[in-house]
Amino acid sequence: MLGRLEMEPKLLFDVADLAVRYPNGEVALHDVTFRVKAPTFMAIIGPNGSGKSTFLKTALGMLRPLKGHVKVLGYDSTHDKGKIRRLVRYVPQRDRIGLSVPMKVKDIVLMGRLLKKMPLRFASSRDIEIARNALKQVNMGDMWNRPFPELSGGQRQRVLVARALAEEGQILMLDEPLSGTDAESQDLIVQALEEYHQNNEVSIVVVTHDLNPLHTMVENVLLLKGTVVGIGEPCSMMDPELISRVYGPTAKIVEYGGHRYCVTKDSGFDRHD
Ligand SMILES: Nc1ncnc2c1ncn2[C@@H]1O[C@H](COP(=O)(O)OP(=O)(O)O)[C@@H](O)[C@H]1O
Ligand SMILES: [Mg+2]
Repeated sequence: MLGRLEMEPKLLFDVADLAVRYPNGEVALHDVTFRVKAPTFMAIIGPNGSGKSTFLKTALGMLRPLKGHVKVLGYDSTHDKGKIRRLVRYVPQRDRIGLSVPMKVKDIVLMGRLLKKMPLRFASSRDIEIARNALKQVNMGDMWNRPFPELSGGQRQRVLVARALAEEGQILMLDEPLSGTDAESQDLIVQALEEYHQNNEVSIVVVTHDLNPLHTMVENVLLLKGTVVGIGEPCSMMDPELISRVYGPTAKIVEYGGHRYCVTKDSGFDRHD
């Protein structure tokens, strides 16, 4: 018989009354309360400094709430952070892989397969197959033996996304995976994530200051500016009043050819179907 917990829909995030303060006194998040069901493909948007990265780090247990809590699939970010780390495949905002380290593309992607598993072991043929497939999904299949530092910014970001795809865990969290990448890499990353979400029971959380390349695919949008300005379907978030509260009075929603576009200083054009 199914237990009560198994019958309830799982919450990807259950956030209540959350406040986060850095040691220098800066309160990056306050009064953050929202819930999102899993699995979902969601975007967290807001201008620079609105607390997006802070939220992800708090959810991962890297920062401790000053007040309130974040639960990720039922696990508390403070008390169960080991469990959360095993569930989440995290791509931080700036990759921490030093470019002076002579790693090859394959080493980076295989790291995703090996690092969470204890004890450390060598890559199996299955690991290699999964890693190769993940690279193919971002059109980097022929780069297996290439030195990582020789790649362009967009190609490096594609490798990091491939590493997350190759990892295990029910949630992918990517912090600004599209920034500093060329248009081709953006398209490849967005398509790979969309396809992965459709074919697997995983939730994907993408932090971005620009919803443009993503918003026809995501199911939920969280508008953040130190606190929750709005949360819901992308359609309901493309609202002039909400958008101006996040991006300021210069942000506009424009209708053209049956689509709604959000024009902001920060993001350029956001198409909305
Ligand atoms: N390590 C830190 N120490 C102090 N303040 C920080 C630190 N990291 C971020 N902040 C501040 O917290 C706020 C939110 O930052 P962040 O979460 O990085 O925003 P975003 O990812 O939306 O650009 C900003 O005002 C930023 O200056
Ligand atoms: Mg950030």
